[in-house]
Amino acid sequence: MIDDRPECSVLLIDDEPFAQDIIAHGLQGCTGHTLCYESSPARAVEVAREVRATVVLVDLRMPDLDGFEVTARLRAHPDTEDLPVIVLSSEDDPDIKARAFAVGANDYLVKWPDPRELVARVRYHSGACIARRQRDAAFASLRVSQEQLAASQSALHQAQKMEAIGQLTGGVAHDFNNVLQIIGGNLQLLKLVGNLSDSAKSRVEMALSGVERGAKLAAHLLAFARRQPLQSVVIDPGHLLREMDDMMRRVLGPSARVVTEIAPGLGSTMVDPNQLNNVLLNLAINARDAMGGAGTLTIRACNIDAPAGAEPASAPASALPAEIPHGHFVMIEVADTGRGMAQEVLLRAFEPFFTTKPTGQGTGLGLSMAYGFVKQSGGEIVLRSEPGQGTSVRIYLPRSDAAPAPVEQVASAPLTGGLETILVVEDEPEVRSSTCGILSALGYDVLEAPDAESAVKIIESGRHVDLVFSDVIMPGPVSSLQLGEIARRWLPWVQVLYTSGYAEGVLAHEGKLDASVHLLQKPYHPDALSMRIRHLLRHARRGQQAAARQADLHQAPVSGQRPHFGLT
Ligand SMILES: Nc1ncnc2c1ncn2[C@@H]1O[C@H](COP(=O)(O)OP(=O)(O)OP(=O)(O)O)[C@@H](O)[C@H]1O
Ligand SMILES: [Mg+2]
Repeated sequence: MIDDRPECSVLLIDDEPFAQDIIAHGLQGCTGHTLCYESSPARAVEVAREVRATVVLVDLRMPDLDGFEVTARLRAHPDTEDLPVIVLSSEDDPDIKARAFAVGANDYLVKWPDPRELVARVRYHSGACIARRQRDAAFASLRVSQEQLAASQSALHQAQKMEAIGQLTGGVAHDFNNVLQIIGGNLQLLKLVGNLSDSAKSRVEMALSGVERGAKLAAHLLAFARRQPLQSVVIDPGHLLREMDDMMRRVLGPSARVVTEIAPGLGSTMVDPNQLNNVLLNLAINARDAMGGAGTLTIRACNIDAPAGAEPASAPASALPAEIPHGHFVMIEVADTGRGMAQEVLLRAFEPFFTTKPTGQGTGLGLSMAYGFVKQSGGEIVLRSEPGQGTSVRIYLPRSDAAPAPVEQVASAPLTGGLETILVVEDEPEVRSSTCGILSALGYDVLEAPDAESAVKIIESGRHVDLVFSDVIMPGPVSSLQLGEIARRWLPWVQVLYTSGYAEGVLAHEGKLDASVHLLQKPYHPDALSMRIRHLLRHARRGQQAAARQADLHQAPVSGQRPHFGLT
């Protein structure tokens, strides 16, 4: 017969070794038990723990320690306080029995008990002990699950809150950008062609600086909402950090120390370098404010490997917080020795507009921007801080196998125009009108279309176009991406420059723009617009010239193309 009762572990404590034989014989009918014998009563607690006893049989009369004392000691230890104790004695005296129960015994058997009674009592007490242990284990595991549930509910709540604020801020920033584009574009146009008096010019300049401030705010909000169009390229973060070293020192001031530790063999990562620059600068400014000018800012960068289910290879396990999924990362840490943050500040630090700085000194957008940027770049950001212990911000960016791209220097140039033809596609009439005005003022031949469908008609009519400048999100059956494709099919050398309040979903894959997509973020400054246009047209011209040379070499005309060279 199979007995599926949990095994009972009997510990017998008796100074007389023959007692072991008698009890062993008595327990023969008790299936699934083990018997452990100990002659020294002083070792009772220790052995009971060792063999995980489920019931203890203890002789009452022993020379050094008697059964009362052994029982009292078992009750006094937290690991054996609930362990059932049966006192064995040859004395059938009610007073002695009562005393045994008073010190904590669970039962009392007069030597030597009938095997059937012995087995029944041992099973009864052992079963109660096992049931209590199972109940305690279930309670403990329930408590752990409840704690885990509470932790994940709070993480979910936090994530939902951030998501909701992100949706709201993203939407506001998008519309805000279009409004700024209308105001800024018209002010710029006024400045270019308005024949303004000096005082009017200074008013326009003032209004334009307001537009610029608004644009910065909108850009930060978009960054938090993870909707800023990122121009990601593969970079060497060590190079970027070394380049920033000087700037960091200037930000921190002369009384603070800046330590930069870049681990050898640091990997590359695909990220928007300008935005990363911005984020690190914001973290340094926060550190400066927290340190009150003096202290140490440490910037560390190293590889972190977190293979699934394995110990991280190039970093101690303590370096990997729970938020980091498995994968290969470049970790950049900005740590300060400043005043640190209280728990309630730490919990809200990533929220946009959350600041503890006096009015006018902080907008509360630095960390929220960093948060959005890192998440949008496929990474994680972890904040650790304690009051008086300083703050550490760790940014984990996915490591890339590709070699870093050469740094492209785009020289800033004053407003330059040209004689090429530019097709402006924009559904907002005010935005379209001010943009067309600026491009015309710069000398370009400007065509305009209110949507992609009308733009396609213009292209298909055979009109020559050198560059299509198109909004990304427009109503109508033809998308801005399709417009780009059609334009390139008709006009192989045409350049396409997109513009948008944000690039969510349409041009961007998870918010990251394809390297071949050129995008100018709204609201744009005429300088930026003219520079991007000239850059693209110059690029096209070089391509055309190279193709013409190739064709000359092969003595064959380049078919179907009308050379159209503009100013560069
Ligand atoms: N290194 C730091 N040490 C201590 N507290 C910090 C640190 N970084 C941020 N904080 C706390 O988090 C808040 C939010 O930081 P965040 O950078 O988002 O905004 P801000 O610095 O207040 O304003 P902004 O960056 O827009 O100028 C700060 O006001 C400050 O209380
Ligand atoms: Mg800040």
